[in-house]
Amino acid sequence: MTPSIPSPPTPTPPIPAAPIPSPIAIDGPAAAGKGTLARALATHFNFAHLDTGMLYRHVAYLVLQAGGNPDNEADSLQAVQKLQPFAVDEKSLRTNQIAAAAAKVAAQPQLRAKMLDLQRNFATHPPNAKAGAVLEGRDIGTIICPAAPIKLFITAQVEIRAHRRWLELKQADPSLQEAQVLAALQARDKKDFSRPVAPLKQAANALLLDTSNLAIKDVFKAALTLIEQKALEIQTAQNID
Ligand code: DC
Repeated sequence: MTPSIPSPPTPTPPIPAAPIPSPIAIDGPAAAGKGTLARALATHFNFAHLDTGMLYRHVAYLVLQAGGNPDNEADSLQAVQKLQPFAVDEKSLRTNQIAAAAAKVAAQPQLRAKMLDLQRNFATHPPNAKAGAVLEGRDIGTIICPAAPIKLFITAQVEIRAHRRWLELKQADPSLQEAQVLAALQARDKKDFSRPVAPLKQAANALLLDTSNLAIKDVFKAALTLIEQKALEIQTAQNID
């Protein structure tokens, strides 16, 4: 008797991926890898991307260009009237001098209030007919988009962040010392975490991702897993309601 061949098990159909709700809010300290991650996620989901730190850098740039003082809120309020986001090339805004001035400008409450609508509008009406938006900064999950369905808080040890930033910056300035970059980052962290207005903090419902020991591609993979899980939870909760 020939043994009967068992029929192969019926494959279970793959679970369709849940739609990714918008906006995705990404916060965290300087040089934690937010920017690279936010851009990669926006490309992956075909969402629009806004680096909100660039807005503060841009205002700082305009203040300095006008011969003003970034510690003086009146100067920032005057500069913000001339703000045309994305009008200045990114390279001119990515200097240590602008970073330090941006941290001062970003601590000013009236200036932050003026930036609110612009950022919220981007989140609710993403440009270029994109279906969603990824916003990155310091207060996206807490103040700009507190109802964002997906929030990530990206962090890493300060020494590791300083090392990464130093590797980046020393290409343009080979004399730059790693200790200088570390001191500048510690000073910015202090300002960002301790300022009275919109301090940097993890929103209660933000998913934490520590990138200290992760390569860029692993940060992306880990974030994608967190986002897809969260999207599925949201979809399941909607189906139950
Ligand atoms: O992310 P960045 O280094 O480009 O940010 C520049 C400065 O702006 C930094 O000191 C933090 C501040 N910032 C902020 O206060 N709120 C945001 N949403 C984004 C940046």
